[in-house]
Amino acid sequence: MKVLVLGSGAREHALVRGLLADPVVTDVIAAPGNPGMAVDAVCEPLADITDAAAVTALAARHTVDLVVVGPEAPLVAGVGDALRAAGYAVYGPDAAAARLEGSKAFAKEVMATASVPTALAHVCTTLTEVAAALDALGAPHVVKEDGLAAGKGVVVTDDRAVALTHAEACLSRPGGQVVVEEYLDGPEVSVFCICDGSSVRALSPAQDFKRIFDGDQGPNTGGMGAYSPLPWAPAHLADHVIEVIAQPVVDEMRRRGTPFVGTLYVGLAMTSRGPRVVEFNVRFGDPDGQVSLARLVTPLGGLLYAAATGRLEEMDDLHHRPEAAVVVVAASAGYPASSRSGDVITGVALDAEGAAGTAQGADETDGADGADGAEVAAGRRPAEVLHAGTALDAEGRLVTAGGRVLNVLAVGDDLAEARDTAYRALGDVRFAGMHYRRDIALAAARGEIHL
Ligand code: AMP
Ligand code: GLY
Repeated sequence: MKVLVLGSGAREHALVRGLLADPVVTDVIAAPGNPGMAVDAVCEPLADITDAAAVTALAARHTVDLVVVGPEAPLVAGVGDALRAAGYAVYGPDAAAARLEGSKAFAKEVMATASVPTALAHVCTTLTEVAAALDALGAPHVVKEDGLAAGKGVVVTDDRAVALTHAEACLSRPGGQVVVEEYLDGPEVSVFCICDGSSVRALSPAQDFKRIFDGDQGPNTGGMGAYSPLPWAPAHLADHVIEVIAQPVVDEMRRRGTPFVGTLYVGLAMTSRGPRVVEFNVRFGDPDGQVSLARLVTPLGGLLYAAATGRLEEMDDLHHRPEAAVVVVAASAGYPASSRSGDVITGVALDAEGAAGTAQGADETDGADGADGAEVAAGRRPAEVLHAGTALDAEGRLVTAGGRVLNVLAVGDDLAEARDTAYRALGDVRFAGMHYRRDIALAAARGEIHL
């Protein structure tokens, strides 16, 4: 089976690796990919991944059997529709179903119809309506821009004036609409549901760290790290999410004539009254998807193909390894407000292992020495590097090319071991301005999270 993967981040790098590990997959083409993916797969330039004609032409040129769409933008733009119209099996929804991520008001409406537990919400188009909704729901205030906003559209604040200012900015844009929501308390969980339009299977839940600084301080980011499993979560959380959230939504989308095929990413708050939906996305999380996928034993190519062709019912339940997975994101100077490109990255081997600390730049003087030897002696799996914002400069050096530069992903017997492996490997990676959180999975590993 030949598979085209659309996207250029660490999520897509993980998808490429997962697909290549499935014996039924013979070829993976990534577009546009990145230098890490280029080691594993064929990368094709693609100036605009939302350009449906260009993507369809690429699928035709490589006579692919399956297209896996990584990010949401091409899905919302209708790339899935164009590929299906051209006869391709596509893992990722059509534009009409991608509205579950593309419009928060639409997602709320579907949840209401399907009786899915979520925050109370008011959809507002004027500042007067916003003010009334803020007063009706009380603080803390949650104000969300309706459309895709790359994680920047949500403000959570105790300050009514800040909430109103954000709403005013959103409403001033063409077609401006905001959703004012009840505040949901409790830890957040990501559950990735594989959907084929009628059936659903769920990956093992993950937790993402959205804030830039340790202790969940500072501004929101795309995600700075993640882990799975969640030792503190209810044992059958994934089954519960299928039963009360994903299956009702998939049934409702099919009833509307817009079946949902792809990943329904259920973002939950584990409130004292039970799990409530914070958001839907229509693709795997990044970096939270990486840890759920790292624990998936069921071959990925066969699974995504079954979903893309409406044959999930024929698959057994998904199998996950019992081991824990931890991923830590290394960001470039200035992230998330900005990012810096062109900083030379050392300590990342551009080879099939993609390992950290095995090549150039490993600093033998700071205690990082022997880490790899110790890992091997202890029978540990080495950490792997997933590329996100990386590029090769004119001299062929690996350099930063975005905010979230790379992920270090490790699997271990438990969260403590996976963390240890990931952080040791990250200690060997260097670039000017590099920063990352030190507390990914720490509270969970210490047993400090309680519901
Ligand atoms: P969203 O874009 O809807 O995922 O929101 C981004 C982030 O804002 C979420 O991951 C939460 O941390 C926070 N958030 C969103 N909605 C709520 C809510 N109703 N209550 C509390 N926090 C929220
Ligand atoms: N890590 C959160 C997201 O992918 O939306």
